[in-house]
Amino acid sequence: MGVFASSDDPGSSGHEQVVFCQDKQTGLRAIIAIYSTALGPALGGTRFYPYASEAEALADVLDLSRGMAYKNALAGLDLGGGKAVIWGDPERIKSEALLRAYGRFVESLHGRYYTACDVGTYVADMDVISRETRFVTGRSVAHGGAGDSSVLTAWGVYQGMRAAAEHVWGTPSLAGRTVGVAGLGKVGRHLTGHLIDDGARVVATDVNPQAREWARQTYPQVELVADATALITADIDVYAPCALGGALNDDTVPALRAKVVAGAANNQLAHPGIEKLLAERDVLYAPDYVVNAGGVIQVADEIEGFNFERAKLRATRIYDTTREILQLADAEGVPPAEAADRLAERRMADVGRLRTILLP
Ligand SMILES: NC(=O)c1ccc[n+]([C@@H]2O[C@H](COP(=O)([O-])OP(=O)(O)OC[C@H]3O[C@@H](n4cnc5c(N)ncnc54)[C@H](O)[C@@H]3O)[C@@H](O)[C@H]2O)c1
Repeated sequence: MGVFASSDDPGSSGHEQVVFCQDKQTGLRAIIAIYSTALGPALGGTRFYPYASEAEALADVLDLSRGMAYKNALAGLDLGGGKAVIWGDPERIKSEALLRAYGRFVESLHGRYYTACDVGTYVADMDVISRETRFVTGRSVAHGGAGDSSVLTAWGVYQGMRAAAEHVWGTPSLAGRTVGVAGLGKVGRHLTGHLIDDGARVVATDVNPQAREWARQTYPQVELVADATALITADIDVYAPCALGGALNDDTVPALRAKVVAGAANNQLAHPGIEKLLAERDVLYAPDYVVNAGGVIQVADEIEGFNFERAKLRATRIYDTTREILQLADAEGVPPAEAADRLAERRMADVGRLRTILLP
C-alpha cells in the first residue's frame, strides 16, 4: 500500500500524514500514520513489534491506520483513524527512556494523533508515555484511564452477535444456541460469561493450558475441544474467533458448520474474497472491526474523562450498528463486510464535510 493516492474518494484517498521518528540513543524507531482526521483527531494504538524490515513496518502501519478510521467511524466516535508502530523487539529494547522519547513525538503532533495499547504495548506503557504527552489513552485507572479494554470489547462482540442472531433466527437471544469460542484470553473469557448468562451453550478451545484450566474452574459447563479445527467442525450455531487474525480462510470456511460468525479477533478474513465465500455458503459474517469496537470505545472515553457507564452505553449501540449493516447488505446485495465499509465511508464523507462550514 502506498502513502499517496490521487482519488478524492474517502475510501481510497491515501494517508493525510505519515511521520518517521528516531531517537538513536534509546534505539527508538517509530512510524505514526494518520489516515484521516475527517471526524476528529486520529486514534489508534501503538504496535511494538520486531518487523523484518522498515518496509514491513510501514506497510503494517498504513494498513492498520486505515482500518482504525473505518472502525472509529462506525463506532460513532468523533475520531479519525491513525496508528503507530515501534520497530524493534519490545523484550530487548523497551525502556522508560524509549517510551518517553516516543511520547514526545506523539506530543509534537499537537493532538492530531492519540495513541493507545496494541500488540506489544500495555496499560503500564501508556502511563509512562503519558508523562510526555497529553494525547494518550488506555492508561491505568489510577492514572485516570479506562483500564483493561477487553471488558467492553467482549460486551460489544456480544451485542454484535445478538444483532446477527436476530437477522438469521428472528430473535437476538442466544438462549439454546451453541456458540464456539476460539481463544479464551481476555476477551474470550468475558464473552463466555455473557453467553452463559444469556443461556447459550458454549464450546471452546485455547492453545494455552492455563486458559483451559480457567474454563474448567469458572464454567464447568463449557465443553472444551482439542483445537480450532475441532471447534469449527463441531455442531455450533455461532463461531466466535477470539484468538488471532486469519481465522476465516480457504480451509476453514468450507468446513464451517455455524450460520453466524461474530468474534473479537482483528483481521478475521485471511484475504479479500473470503467474505464472498462466506456469503455463498450462507454464513452471516458480522464484520470484525464493527463488533470488536468496544475496546476503542472504552479507551476513547478517556478523552472526555473516563465514565464506564457512558462508554458501556456506546458499546451497546454496536447492536444497532450491526443491524443497520446487515440490513444495508441485504438491500444493496453485497456481503456485510462491504456494507460496513460503505457505511463508514458515508459517515466520514457526510460528517467530515461539515467542517467546511466555518465556525468563526
Ligand atoms: N483486548 C481488546 O480490547 C481487543 C480489542 C479489539 C480486538 N481484539 C482482538 O481480539 C483478539 C483477542 O484479544 P485478547 O485481548 O483476548 O487477547 P489475549 O492474548 O488475551 O487472548 C488470546 C487467546 O487466544 C489463544 N490462542 C492463540 N492462538 C490460538 C489458537 N490457534 N487456537 C486457540 N486459541 C489460541 C491464546 O492462548 C489466548 O488465550 C485478538 O485478535 C485481538 O487483536 C482485542
